[in-house]
Amino acid sequence: MGMIDPSSEPLRQLADRRGVLIGSCVGVEYLRHDPAYRAILEREFNVITPENAMKFELLHPACGRWEFNDADEIVSFAADHDMEVRGHTLVWHRRIPGWIVDGGYRRDELMAILRDHIHTVVGRYRGRVRTWDVVNEALPMPGDASRERSLWRQVIGTEFIELAFHWAHEADPGARLFYNDDHADGLSEKSDAVYGLARRLMDRGVPLHGIGLQMHTGLGWSPSPREIAANIRRFADLGLEVHITEMDVQIQTGHGSPSERWDAQANVYGEILRACLDVPAFKALVMWGVTDRHSWIPDFTGHGDSPLIFDESYRPKPAYNAVARALGTKR
Ligand code: XIL
Repeated sequence: MGMIDPSSEPLRQLADRRGVLIGSCVGVEYLRHDPAYRAILEREFNVITPENAMKFELLHPACGRWEFNDADEIVSFAADHDMEVRGHTLVWHRRIPGWIVDGGYRRDELMAILRDHIHTVVGRYRGRVRTWDVVNEALPMPGDASRERSLWRQVIGTEFIELAFHWAHEADPGARLFYNDDHADGLSEKSDAVYGLARRLMDRGVPLHGIGLQMHTGLGWSPSPREIAANIRRFADLGLEVHITEMDVQIQTGHGSPSERWDAQANVYGEILRACLDVPAFKALVMWGVTDRHSWIPDFTGHGDSPLIFDESYRPKPAYNAVARALGTKR
């Protein structure tokens, strides 16, 4: 199997020197059964995000029943290898378990359930999960009515957002609490809405510390690096930190031969990272997967792709080198 040149400097070392985090989401099944996958994580990254293991339905599948094994394993792997964990995610309109969806709970009951969930999860990992995506994708998206129909919004009202932050803060006052969303990476109506939300929360004294920009993107439709940097700067002006939380770069939407697309993809990774690193409030780049073999994108889009920085055989792609170069370039 092709591997990284062992003499090259690992991404995490370059990132440490820069004072930023570099990482990926982690699928617990690969962590358990795939030594090559583990080896890349250990060598390259100083932060990981559970891809699914901390989602509500997986942690809390029935009333009073908790399944912590997968999440525990990811958290202790991180501790063993001196990595941070981004907890993902406490409140989302998806992956809500059936016992809640079909429970017919009143507002006060649902609030008590959510409060208990957040207290239990954040409390369990207190001091070990440094950062939480407290609320994920709560703002309306044209073409996706599921977000307005979100159970939390319907039954509790928009107040669910600030309540979730307060509850998370109660459970671990040392944790860094993030609002995470998609299609809010550059300057757009959606990112204006995220900015407006962040400002309202800050004005109201809600314990919000950062904004997660998912950065699911692709050739031909990725926001410009300048816009992304400008977006990060306005969150920084509110006193917030910014992480890229789920980056991948689809190539199926691009032109040219496969190798030209991989080069174009490398430019997207490199230029976006470089622009972000110019803003001191930017503190992390997390990619939504390690290798093209396990990306969520083919399931999501319905066709094959290779959106990550390691190929299907775990070899570093041009995008890997672009990320390394961006991290290694002095300001
Ligand atoms: C995705 C996972 O990658 C898939 O394995 C799962 O089937 C669905 O969820 N935005 C998010 C992530 O915040 O939690 C999603 O993760 C991808 C989009």
